[in-house]
Amino acid sequence: MQVTDVRTTPFADQKPGTSGLRKKVPVFQQPHYLENFVQSIFDSVPGLKGATLVLGGDGRYYNLTAIQTILKMAAANGVTQVLVGRDGLLSTPAASCVIRKHRATGGIVLSASPNPAGPTEDFGIKYNTDNGGPAPEKITEAIYARSRAIDHYRIMQADAVPLDRLGEQRLGDMRVVVIDPVADYAELMESLFDFPRIRALFQSGHFRMRFDAMHAITGPYAEEILLRRLGAPTDSLLNATPLEDFGGGHPDPNLTYAHALVDILFGTDAPDFGAASDGDGDRNMILGRNFFVTPSDSLAILAANATLVPGYAQGIAGIARSMPTSQAADRVAAALNLPCYETPTGWKFFGNLLDAGKVTLCGEESFGTGSDHVREKDGLWAVLFWLNLLAVRKQSVAGIVQEHWQRFGRNYYSRHDYEGVDSAAATALIEDLRAQFATLPGRRFGAYTVAYSDDFAYTDPIDASLSTNQGIRIGFTDGSRIVFRLSGTGTEGATLRVYLERYEADTTKQGLDSQTALADLIRIADELAGIARHTGRDRPTVIT
Ligand code: G1P
Ligand code: ZN
Repeated sequence: MQVTDVRTTPFADQKPGTSGLRKKVPVFQQPHYLENFVQSIFDSVPGLKGATLVLGGDGRYYNLTAIQTILKMAAANGVTQVLVGRDGLLSTPAASCVIRKHRATGGIVLSASPNPAGPTEDFGIKYNTDNGGPAPEKITEAIYARSRAIDHYRIMQADAVPLDRLGEQRLGDMRVVVIDPVADYAELMESLFDFPRIRALFQSGHFRMRFDAMHAITGPYAEEILLRRLGAPTDSLLNATPLEDFGGGHPDPNLTYAHALVDILFGTDAPDFGAASDGDGDRNMILGRNFFVTPSDSLAILAANATLVPGYAQGIAGIARSMPTSQAADRVAAALNLPCYETPTGWKFFGNLLDAGKVTLCGEESFGTGSDHVREKDGLWAVLFWLNLLAVRKQSVAGIVQEHWQRFGRNYYSRHDYEGVDSAAATALIEDLRAQFATLPGRRFGAYTVAYSDDFAYTDPIDASLSTNQGIRIGFTDGSRIVFRLSGTGTEGATLRVYLERYEADTTKQGLDSQTALADLIRIADELAGIARHTGRDRPTVIT
């Protein structure tokens, strides 16, 4: 088979964001656009010649087209073997699991996570390294630098490789192995959690759950694990068939976009437990009957109860959370005498801590939780962790959370997103906040006094790399915080995220609705940042 060297010119906009390169599908469909970025990976990641690569995606529109192109380019660039999920499918955590288990050099994961899919919606591509995790900034920067200078790419002239049958095929000298996308992952889950006990919970007849796969990647995973291996009744699963456009939905498991599930859990005769995952299977939302567990609380609760789960029975080494995530996990770490790390937003910052054995559990407020079992956040893992806790503790979800607050206090928490605002206005808002740093400490806003204000910067404790401008923090003397940052995953305009947090130790005051409990801080955030003045918006697009 013939390899062609195709001449090309650089695109200026191939800088990876919080989680890889994400653009609208028509951007990826421009001639040479995908090829340029893929060749930039082959040119800047050392050791891909002769390597084993893992390849798969969340099944969204353009997934299969991109996979065929990447296979031909991998063959032309001297890759020895590609493990690809059947029909081009692999959830993000499963891709991480497969890279680690089969000792691959790396993987290419195709996803735009929770963003809508379809011919005019979003697509994404990212590179994961041999630890199974998203490439660190050093590598993503090198890929970007290469994309600015690229003048040719290599591709094999060949027919499409059939991906619907398991087994081995050849593309030139390269082996293409079509693997079951679920098997390795399901086996890993079975090694971590007490499956017999969870199975008994379902068999008791006193426990009902609903898992909403939102027509995205987790459907087949949930069918194998929840139905087949754990014996949950079939009506436990909703929207389990993956669709190219996710059924027109927005598979982001939060109170706004997973409202169908929320309605069930807050309706009459609600089941005991509800959960949802996102487009590529790495996020999770946890609900009880009439109860929502914030992702920040979920991380803290998993950490406090980890020894009840076989995979973590020996205890955990430490906890890491992204900076905007609430400090609930810090309180657990302090009580258990464990280290707790605060990292910038994005899972790639957890990789070094996990590899070095400094932390076992990590999480983000953005519905991401995970552990050292893989190097991505993991939606179904979090659901299984909760099922394991429910099976052992024999309490309701609300009961477990309220007991946690009694012991550790409650961190009231909310995130307000202003989506699709004008980019220049959003930048001006952040600049205006920075300009106030010198005068803020000591300033009073009602009952709140500013203790510090800064631009979060992080020095990685393992490789000493420095990441600056990771969000604006305004901390108050009572430990409350307001954080402002601009999203790094959006594909249209800018998204302003405002994160609000207040601590309440008094158990008689822990039952408020979080928006009520945070009302003063919400007002202060607008006063400080002039959100309405800058963006012209009088309310957020999404509140979680
Ligand atoms: C968002 C979340 C962040 C998460 C990322 C990828 O990034 O806020 O926590 O790691 O998606 O799933 P952002 O759009 O805020 O840059
Ligand atoms: Zn995702």
